[in-house]
Amino acid sequence: MTISLTPDTITILQAMQANDEIPARTLASKLEMDYIMVMAGVNELKEHGLGDFTEEEIVEYQLTEEGQDYAKNLLPESRLFKFIVQNEMRQVSLNELRDKAEKELSLKDKMFFISVNHMRKAMWVSQTNIDGIPTLVVLKQEFEEKEEQALLELINDSGVINKEDIPGNLQEYIEVLKKRTLITEKKYTRRLLKLTREGKAIKEKDISSVKEVTRLTREHIKTGDWRNVSFKAYDVGKPGPAIAPGRINPLVEIINKVREIFYSMGFMEIRGPIVESAFFNFDALFQPQDHPAREMHDTFYLEKPGSARLPGKKYVKRVSEVHENGGNTGSTGWGYTWDKKVAQQTVLRTHTTATTVRQLGKAIQQGVPLPLKVFSVDRVYRNEKVDRSHLAEFMQVEGIIIGDNVNLGDLRGTLVEFYKKMGFDRIITRPGFFPYTEPSMEISVYSEELESWMEIGGSGIFRPEVCEPWGIKEPTRVLAWGQGLERIAMLRLKRKDIRDLYKNPLSWLRRAPYPKL
Ligand code: PHE
Repeated sequence: MTISLTPDTITILQAMQANDEIPARTLASKLEMDYIMVMAGVNELKEHGLGDFTEEEIVEYQLTEEGQDYAKNLLPESRLFKFIVQNEMRQVSLNELRDKAEKELSLKDKMFFISVNHMRKAMWVSQTNIDGIPTLVVLKQEFEEKEEQALLELINDSGVINKEDIPGNLQEYIEVLKKRTLITEKKYTRRLLKLTREGKAIKEKDISSVKEVTRLTREHIKTGDWRNVSFKAYDVGKPGPAIAPGRINPLVEIINKVREIFYSMGFMEIRGPIVESAFFNFDALFQPQDHPAREMHDTFYLEKPGSARLPGKKYVKRVSEVHENGGNTGSTGWGYTWDKKVAQQTVLRTHTTATTVRQLGKAIQQGVPLPLKVFSVDRVYRNEKVDRSHLAEFMQVEGIIIGDNVNLGDLRGTLVEFYKKMGFDRIITRPGFFPYTEPSMEISVYSEELESWMEIGGSGIFRPEVCEPWGIKEPTRVLAWGQGLERIAMLRLKRKDIRDLYKNPLSWLRRAPYPKL
């Protein structure tokens, strides 16, 4: 049986038969052939089981011009120190040494100071001030060559050296020389070509030469050459080259999906300021002014702008009354003296509930028809230590429904629908606590991957103390829920480290599943 190979591949095969193993580049220059062509030939041999190759990562070093100079003439600090030792100096002023170094060693200013620094680092000399004059005190009485000198000379002798050929005791100086730009590093993959037993054994008579072409050209037709060519067969089983086309960032895909779901459920998107007043971030949500969440270690307070504008006096008064004594809500409030200054403090909003609560006023003042359903997907800030499950800057997804006689069943139904559309088929709600909702429910979803329930958000019905100041009274109620966006993203994108979502490692982005949403 004869095997058909292209002429180039036959040349490569014959050249390889003369060698045991040969680097692809060596073979390419030997045959004066393109490296790519050699690899194409080797791949053709591989297809026929005649040859193969292994890959090896090579790291090589070479001296820079400066490195070559020091390999021959010693490192400058060594030259300088040798000079000090030969002249039996015990102590010398920097100025005097500089003059001498320039005259006798032609070590110019900059190189002189670099050399002094290296001598100090090597603890050959130390520098002090004697009567205000910078002086070097010599600490070592004889000259000894530095270890890195040996490495320099070794590299100089070999021209180019493979990292593996550098003896173990010199390895640690590679970095030292690299930092000093005395050597350069080159990394590449070396492909080592080999024939299989069949490849070694195959005889010329068992090979027939074909001129394989992938397509017919004008030339083939004009010259009649088309009669002599054979067409390279298509291997339809072969995978095509992997392509990584431009795409939308997976986190953005999730955000878009969240938006789409809210729109499909009849919600409108709202956005609010990132720099928020403590009033909307806390006070309007019935969080007392000494609430621990307001403290510096959770909340970023701003110096500029130092004070926020509050809404109309009427509303501020009602909020303050609710805090002090419950106002008209039937509540007793928190029973302390409310301070307007504290409410005027500016913060980076710690939750998007600051944004949704701003809607309560609008609902009644502007008389928008109920139910009013709005949502927000936006950035919030908390003074958290960043780790695999915390960020100081992250996003929240939040929705509210203002409507007459809406109830906990409506809230649960909305949550079930929302999370189902988000790809979580099973959710449970459990009693929870938030200062601004009553009753409150914690939301957990079941993660198939983790085979466990994950708590992901909070929800509830806004308390009368939150609603009343804005004129929202029974039977009008406000259903609310919110959660971190990255939590959903981590579950859907199978990331265990929240930081990955913003680090955007390319290798992951290329592979990341388009969330099956
Ligand atoms: N604001 C809450 C949080 O940041 C979530 C929440 C929103 C809870 C609305 C209840 C109602 O965790």
